[in-house]
Parts: sequence; C-alpha cells; structure tokens
Amino acid sequence: MNLDLIKIEPSATVAINSLALQKKQAGERVYNLSVGEPMINTPEVIKSAATKALAENKTHYPPVSGLVELKNEAVTWFNKNFQANYNNNEVLVTAGGKFGIYLGLQSLVKTGDEVLIISPYWVSYPEMVKIFDGSPKIVETSEKNDWKVSISDLQKQVSNKTKILILNNAGNPTGVLYNKEEIAKILEFAKENNLVIISDEVYSGLVYDNQVFFSCASFTDYKDRLVVIQSCSKNLAMTGWRVGFVFAPVEVIKILTNLTSQSTSGVTSISQYSALAGLENIDMISVEINSEMQKRRDFFVNTFNKLFKTNLQAPASALYCFISMSAFGIDEIDSIKFCERVLSEANVAMVPGIAFGKEGYVRCSFGENIQELDQALLKLAEYLQK
Ligand SMILES: Cc1ncc(COP(=O)(O)O)c(C=O)c1O
Repeated sequence: MNLDLIKIEPSATVAINSLALQKKQAGERVYNLSVGEPMINTPEVIKSAATKALAENKTHYPPVSGLVELKNEAVTWFNKNFQANYNNNEVLVTAGGKFGIYLGLQSLVKTGDEVLIISPYWVSYPEMVKIFDGSPKIVETSEKNDWKVSISDLQKQVSNKTKILILNNAGNPTGVLYNKEEIAKILEFAKENNLVIISDEVYSGLVYDNQVFFSCASFTDYKDRLVVIQSCSKNLAMTGWRVGFVFAPVEVIKILTNLTSQSTSGVTSISQYSALAGLENIDMISVEINSEMQKRRDFFVNTFNKLFKTNLQAPASALYCFISMSAFGIDEIDSIKFCERVLSEANVAMVPGIAFGKEGYVRCSFGENIQELDQALLKLAEYLQK
C-alpha cells in the first residue's frame, strides 16, 4: 500500500551518530566531541525538588500552559535579567526550547511563507520550516566576519513572501554573540520588512569572558513581533528534563496553548516543579555552570592550538568550536566524509559542518569534562598527524 507519507530529511548527523553508537555497543572507547549539552550533573537543589514533588504526589495533569508558580518565576527571572516586561499570560512552558520553536513555527508558517535562517544554523530550523510547508531562505555568514549577519546580507534574501527571521543568539554552532547595537539593527530591519522574529536564546547563560548577553526582549518597542525561546536545558544542566519557555504576545501564547492542549497536554509535572527550583536558584547555578564551561572552553582552545599549531579563537558563547577543516591540516571539504573517517579510524566523534549548512568545517563540543576533552584531542592529533 502507498501510505503517501510526508517527507522529512533525516539529520545530517544520523550516519555519524549511528556509527558512534555501533562502536559503543561493540565495547569500543568513543571520544566524544559531539555532545550538545554541558556534561554536568543536574544540581542537587533541582533533583531534591523532583523527589519532593514525587513524594507529594504532584503527578497529575499540570495546567496546559504550565504551572502558575513556574510561569511566575520564569517571568520574574526573564524580566529581571533581560530588562523585559512580560506578564505571566505572555509565557508558555514547553517540552524544551526545541518544542517552543516547533510550536512557534507551526503557529506562524503558512504554505509558501519564507523564513530567513542565518547560516551556519542550528540543524532543526530548516527542517521544521519545511514540515509546515514554509520555505527556508538561507542567509550566509562567514568566519572572517565573525559569523555575524549584516543588514545587507539580510536585505539580499528578504522578499514580500518573507514572514519570519530566526535569530540564534548566543549561537550554535559558531558561538556568535551579537551586541546591543547589532541586535537593534536586526530588529529594525525586521520591523521595516514586517517580519516576526523568533529569537532562540537558549544559550543565554553560556556567555564567556564577562561579556553581557542581550536579549531581543530588552527592546520592548518590538515586543509585538517577537517570540523568544528560552530553556532550562543548557542554563541549568537540565537537558533530559525537557523544560523550556516561549515568551510572546498574548495572542500567540493562546494559539500555542491550544496547540499544546491538542497534542502533548503540557510538560511533565515533576520536571516543572524541578525547573521551578532551578529558576529560584538560577543566579547561583548559572555562575557555577558558566565558570566550569569557560574552563572547558579555554582548555579545549589552548590544547587544540598547541596540538595543531593553529590560532583558533575562543568562541564568545555556547558550547562549541566551529573549526575549519584546514586547521586540522586537511585540504578536502567534504565534512561528512572527514567526520566518518575520523570516527571509524580514530574513534573521535565530531559533527560535520554540513549539518549546519556549511561545508569545510566541523563542530567540536567542549561540553565534556577536561579529561575527556584532553583524551579526545590527543587521539585526534595522534591520528591526523601520523
Ligand atoms: C540553538 C539551539 N536551540 C534550541 C535547542 C533546543 O534545546 P532544548 O530543547 O533542550 O531546550 C538547542 C539544543 O541543542 C540548540 O542548540
């Protein structure tokens, strides 16, 4: 029977991930430079809140849009940290930032609508746009411009069919961090072209060297066209708990809540009580996670530069170095072939740049602990320099 299924591409990382898994299952040691999370245990205060919620039988259906206490805390944290002015009817609790982006696109994208996506991009954006019959319009950036998009880059891709601009600040995979003036210009561009901005800010807590993170939400004049995505995953070391937030105008939140009520019915109650404890203690937790990740970043960059005699710059944010294959002394540009070869022959897992829309690069994560990073880099250098 022809089931006439929808079309959806597998992630470009599938081949690499399944090879890594195969190797692990065969008992081989795989060195992991491909993780998408801080490899840090969830803080005790969060875990205790989960145990307490269980003991108190808080296991019933939560409100669809999220626990009131959690929404209040999320709004307080968001407004205080990012000089925003949201109310608790302008936030939705979602199953991670990812599902927030998915719902946001589902509510906004209609057939043929164009969505501007800045490349290198997070893997899921273009595929999500296609799921909703939209058309991803890729805006290229380059390493020599610090992977930052300019207004003229955006102008070249915008048309009267363009409805949304996705901005990922702080960014995966390049660690790009936009300053206040740059964000202001992008928001003004969006206004002039009547675009909605989906601002993916899930790495806001992982910004290094005492630099300041600016949220689009602090520009309150643009609030009516702004959908901000936040998450407990990276900021609170809670990736597996699946809690994120969408901050958006009331009419958007209403639609997203209806979509949630017709699909998942909301986020696991225990995870929400845990996230509440996390947000209540976020100032303390953030400092710890941030300083640990900065140490790992510095270790990765310094060790890489020593081993490969290069001058890799430390990324300003997030968890990744986006590295030109030429820095490894490789003159090919097929990043999938390169990553497959390194994984199959040296057991080091990296993510091919093409997964993020950019050939000739790989993404190495510094999310693992220093010992793991050390061993992975030594193994990589030993293999590539032999
Ligand atoms: C740029 C970006 N946005 C969103 C997400 C989604 O994270 P989560 O769903 O765990 O909040 C990720 C996860 O890796 C990411 O890198």
